[in-house]
Amino acid sequence: MTTTWKKFSFLLVLMAVTLVIAACGGGGETGSGSEGGGGGNGQVDVGIILPTKDEPRWVQDEARFKEALGETDYSTEILFSQGSSAKEKENVDILLNKGIKVLVIAPHDGAAAAAAVESAKKDDVTVIAYDRLITDTDAVDYYVTFDSLAVGAAQAQYLIDNAEGSGVPLYLYAGASSDNNAFLFFQGAWSVLQPKIADGTFTIANSSEAEALKDTAELSRDQLSKVLGQVTTNWDPNEAKNKAQTHLTGVGADMKGDVAVLAPNDGTARAIADVFASDGEVTNYVITGQDAEKASIQYIIDGKQSMTVFKDVRTLVKDAMDMAVTVLEGNEPETTGSYDNGAVEVKAKQTDVITVDESNVQKELIDSDYYKADEFTGLK
Ligand code: BGC
Repeated sequence: MTTTWKKFSFLLVLMAVTLVIAACGGGGETGSGSEGGGGGNGQVDVGIILPTKDEPRWVQDEARFKEALGETDYSTEILFSQGSSAKEKENVDILLNKGIKVLVIAPHDGAAAAAAVESAKKDDVTVIAYDRLITDTDAVDYYVTFDSLAVGAAQAQYLIDNAEGSGVPLYLYAGASSDNNAFLFFQGAWSVLQPKIADGTFTIANSSEAEALKDTAELSRDQLSKVLGQVTTNWDPNEAKNKAQTHLTGVGADMKGDVAVLAPNDGTARAIADVFASDGEVTNYVITGQDAEKASIQYIIDGKQSMTVFKDVRTLVKDAMDMAVTVLEGNEPETTGSYDNGAVEVKAKQTDVITVDESNVQKELIDSDYYKADEFTGLK
């Protein structure tokens, strides 16, 4: 054979092999179907649904899923619900039509998602709640999660460790009431902060509901709902910013000076921090966060956000995929505990979290290969 002909036949073989692999849908992802659009039309084994592309947290999860999917022989598809329960239900239907056997889902709204996963259960699909619990339904088989009470507790402890003197004005903010995690984060934070509110270390600046409960160590779901109703950000940085502005406009000089701010996650923390930074009467603010979003790591390096709670998404993705594969192979996944979702005890696998501030950014996020040093400026 001439060299040209050899090259040509090699190309033909290569094309044929590529076609066969594509037809079998072998390995990896069949399409990220960015905003709920479908991927390929072939069979999908594991469907993954994430709440929104508008928050770096979930884009990070998508990226980490894609990294992990290279290692599985099962076909998968990732869809986003864009903050809409209707879109989420549509996504579940798209994936059911593609024959999924396992659904990994972080719901937009934990209670509203019940209907979607109930239709998956009817098709004998195993449902794994991812990071956020789906509530008030028995149609959830497993839950992979971080220790969300510990997230709130770590935020609260940081505020305590960095408070000086007494009567420190404390501004409280929370996540969306439609997200069970928002309750867990606040509950975890309250359990640590409450004694320090009761003993006068902190004075609550922005919530009459929380103020009325300052002697109550453990809050009921109803009590939590009342406080969240006042201080929710709905996980929306704009709402967080508006609330912070209203709060700072509404208080006197005695609620300014050196203050402490419980912000529920990084997106809202940056928005709130910007408001506090631009108030001439706020001399210093200590503010929490969570997710270790890149923009917040830069804020921490720049001294604009005090801390974040690092939840290593690589571990959560691995747990979810290991669980899915175990189920596909006909075995029972390992779990470490359970969560009451209002209807049943859902078997859960839980992962620990890490407090990160400027003192350990390098060790926890760069040395661990989560991020690269050159993604930031001014890293010491
Ligand atoms: C997640 C957080 C995230 C928040 C807003 C929560 O359920 O656990 O990591 O910041 O939702 O999307």
